[in-house]
Amino acid sequence: MFKYCKKLQYPINIKKKDLRMAKYLVTQYGGSNGELAAALRYLNQRFTMPDDIGKALLTDIGTEELAHVEMISTMIYQLMKDASIKEIEDAGLDTHYAEHAKALYPTDANGVPFTVTYFATTGDPLADISEDMAAEQKARAVYENLIDLTDDPDVIGPLLWLRQREIVHYSRFKDLFEYYEKKLKNGANEFKEMPASNNDYYMNNFLENPMNNFTNDTFLMNKMHLDNNEFFM
Ligand SMILES: [Fe+2]
Repeated sequence: MFKYCKKLQYPINIKKKDLRMAKYLVTQYGGSNGELAAALRYLNQRFTMPDDIGKALLTDIGTEELAHVEMISTMIYQLMKDASIKEIEDAGLDTHYAEHAKALYPTDANGVPFTVTYFATTGDPLADISEDMAAEQKARAVYENLIDLTDDPDVIGPLLWLRQREIVHYSRFKDLFEYYEKKLKNGANEFKEMPASNNDYYMNNFLENPMNNFTNDTFLMNKMHLDNNEFFM
């Protein structure tokens, strides 16, 4: 069962329209490395994880990815909502407008519509979690590409935050991968507890002490100083 909180996971308040950025950003909605693919990937794979530890982690992260879909969608909406038809045409979004007006629609940055072939479920925990680790790294890289394409702090702030969540997710999946790898090697009853803490711990720790895990993150430190000193609000 899901409960809906009527707030975004991280505040979005973009004051300047930017159709060019909306066109790029949509890939984190409906592209192969985007948030929709991530949410559906984890929320499908969770059922065949071999124990409650894996099911819980995939459910936690899959649910959070839905919150990220909502953030990206809000950003695209705010970037586009005040644009004139002329501006839409000039930005090359006329074909989007013909089909959808200013409505949201999941595509990548080239306009290719979302497809379920962006994710897999094999029923094999090691194969599925390997895909998840790669997906998080690719999502992180795409966030960095997107951050390079804007100088608006209202856009950079949420993108930096989302990028960091990909890093945390990668590390949670890596813990889970190593746990199952040992468990499968040593017999199913060998490991009853996953040694590392759960995602809630990382989430809370991150929100309370955002700098804890990232002080040697050069990309983050550079972007904070150059583009967005308001990042940690
Ligand atoms: Fe993620």
